[in-house]
Amino acid sequence: MKGRRRPRKALNASIESVRAYYEDLLGSLQDGIITIEPDGRIRSINQAAEELMGRSAQMFHGRSFERLFPNDRPLRALMQKTLESGRTHADFDVRLTRRDGSHVVISAVCSLISNGTGQPRGIVLAIRDQTGIRELEERLQRSDRLASLGTVAAGVAHEIRNPLAGLRGAAQLLEGEPNFPAALREYTSVIVREVDRLGAIVERLLSFATPRGPVLCSCNLHEILDSLLFLERAPLDAARIAVRRQYDPQLPEILADPSEIRQLFLNLIRNGAEAMPDGGDLTIRTSYERSEKRCGGRSVAVVEIIDQGEGFDPEIERRLFTPFFTTKEGGTGLGLAICLRIVEDHSGAMEATSTPGKGSRFRVWLPLVTQSGAASPLNES
Ligand SMILES: Nc1ncnc2c1ncn2[C@@H]1O[C@H](COP(=O)(O)OP(=O)(O)O)[C@@H](O)[C@H]1O
Ligand SMILES: [Mg+2]
Repeated sequence: MKGRRRPRKALNASIESVRAYYEDLLGSLQDGIITIEPDGRIRSINQAAEELMGRSAQMFHGRSFERLFPNDRPLRALMQKTLESGRTHADFDVRLTRRDGSHVVISAVCSLISNGTGQPRGIVLAIRDQTGIRELEERLQRSDRLASLGTVAAGVAHEIRNPLAGLRGAAQLLEGEPNFPAALREYTSVIVREVDRLGAIVERLLSFATPRGPVLCSCNLHEILDSLLFLERAPLDAARIAVRRQYDPQLPEILADPSEIRQLFLNLIRNGAEAMPDGGDLTIRTSYERSEKRCGGRSVAVVEIIDQGEGFDPEIERRLFTPFFTTKEGGTGLGLAICLRIVEDHSGAMEATSTPGKGSRFRVWLPLVTQSGAASPLNES
């Protein structure tokens, strides 16, 4: 016998309340949740998944996953395996293409949705952003590599410094000999010049391998940049590089070691100039941001060095900050490794992006002096 039928209005209200509850639940999850019909069409997608995929829910609804993500074969394979086996499958290292073409590394867990009788009703895909974890892993690996490299480099550099000084001195003594033929002077000056070049490399290697640690004070970033640009004016002019300064006049002071910061931006400015052998614009832009995630939520200055050079492809991008990686004849490959070390010593961050053929942009984040003027934890060491 049928029970008394509930009035339609009350039934609708209760369905609506259940629906709203599940919507709130899915909306509150940090993980992206996508449900997919057995025929591959997307049934629902929560806000976290929308954000992760860089697309809005309307774009998904009722459309086939395969057509929306033609380039994401690993994710589709995961779903296929789940559908075929009926079991949960996971992949913790999937590269996903966002709508703007950028990539994000995610973990994905795919399970079958079945009703009470075991009939499959579709699949549910739970995805999570892994970028932060990957970055942390890479950073740890890099600092590990740098630490061991530093020890070797320091040893080698010390061994080379003394013989170099001996060579230079001997070449100069030779030149000073009363009977030294003037025609041979060209050779001794090559020795001296090349020894000096080697000496400069050794010094860079040493400063990289045995950092003295930053001595922090409150400094004006624009003054540092201007004094650098003043010193570099002649070579920049000669290379037909036009410097465009786009400074934010409101930029507060930063907490930094001025000589290290000079070294940092000198390397970046020189790299920018070297990337434009036929000249071009080198833009130096400053601004500031409150609460930068990469720098532990601190307020930071942002400096961008933008050139119009050849840029670099993703393969080079991966290796940019690796010590001794260079594509230049006569390059040391230490410039950017030193930049990264300086930035990390300042609890800052840096990033390089490029459009090959059009130019590159190096972005640096450096902590501002805190409002209270309190010393940063870095100062206490
Ligand atoms: N602004 C830039 N544009 C294009 N490529 C760059 C730029 N800056 C650095 N690179 C690439 O990164 C490599 C490493 O740079 P760096 O560490 O400064 O060493 P070096 O300048 O001695 O080669 C360069 O050889 C170059 O291939
Ligand atoms: Mg360089």
